Amino acid sequence: MENIDWRNLPFGYYPTDYNVRCYGRNGKWGELEVSSSEYISIHMAATTLHYGQEAFEGMKAFRGVDGKVRLFRWQDNARRLRSSADGIMMQEVPDEVFFAAIEKAVRLNARFIPPYGTGASLYIRPLLFGSGPQVGVKPATEYMFLVFVGPVGPYFKEGFRPVTVELVRDYDRAAPRGTGHIKVGGNYAASLRPATRAAKNGYSTVLFLDAKEQKYIDEAGPANFFGIRNNTYITPESHTILPSITNKSIETLAKDAGMKVERRPVPVEELELFEEVGACGTAAIISPIGKIVDTAFGKVYEYGTEAGKNSTMLYKRLKAIQEAEMEDIYGWTTVIEGI
Ligand SMILES: Cc1ncc(COP(=O)(O)O)c(C=O)c1O
Repeated sequence: MENIDWRNLPFGYYPTDYNVRCYGRNGKWGELEVSSSEYISIHMAATTLHYGQEAFEGMKAFRGVDGKVRLFRWQDNARRLRSSADGIMMQEVPDEVFFAAIEKAVRLNARFIPPYGTGASLYIRPLLFGSGPQVGVKPATEYMFLVFVGPVGPYFKEGFRPVTVELVRDYDRAAPRGTGHIKVGGNYAASLRPATRAAKNGYSTVLFLDAKEQKYIDEAGPANFFGIRNNTYITPESHTILPSITNKSIETLAKDAGMKVERRPVPVEELELFEEVGACGTAAIISPIGKIVDTAFGKVYEYGTEAGKNSTMLYKRLKAIQEAEMEDIYGWTTVIEGI
């Protein structure tokens, strides 16, 4: 076992022993290659560098209470990467290649999987990009699929404590008919300026509005948004947000806990009515939001300094399934045997 301070890991890059790579041409994928280098050699005219032909995924492996290592809903990440590839004309990665690369990367770096009970997990970052050269604006004819992993702690330094977020009115993350619904680098590039400004002003993250009318809540910088009131879990329906696998899981858990679930446009004014609000995603799991500051309109929405009871219940159930404290009746987890 590595001598790592597991309980105080930040969410960030952590060097490990190996990464796994694979090249695709003409719709076919080659053999998986294992590398111990953190660098890649890339053509200077690769489409990823010029035209942003790049998509990624974010998922986690957890060490459970029974000592076994589990992936959470990897098939959904594989499907979403294909949807991202389709959206920006990249060669799609089939389930077999996706899983084989992930399993190999996790196995080869098993000594970096955080022990159960530390609150840390192994973050998995699959990456797909156009590696072939083009000078005209066209899709590449060659693609690279790469998976690296690293141990991580909570995304927000507050952990499961309410954070303060800024409602952004002067920037859009994604265009109404653009790429907001897929996980491509360009969306994140567009979020960097408002997110950096918010961080400088002491906010944990930003909350974007819909780009068409600026009337509805879209999502947080790195996570989906939800609000809870009258025993109802409410989360935005929008073409410009990423379909979060965590959010989909929480919707199921909320329903099964006897809550109502609504996925629909969420007008900004509704922020007044919520009893609890939060952000959810692989990195953040559930992050309760204590305060939303609408700087442009000079308005502050407050939800208390403690996590709400429903958010806490949902967080505990999701974490319990991921760490095998609770039976996975949904078939969401996949054990990687023998590590
Ligand atoms: C913009 C954005 N929204 C939502 C999410 C949450 O998605 P998931 O729950 O699948 O991790 C993420 C990241 O993972 C994200 O980057």
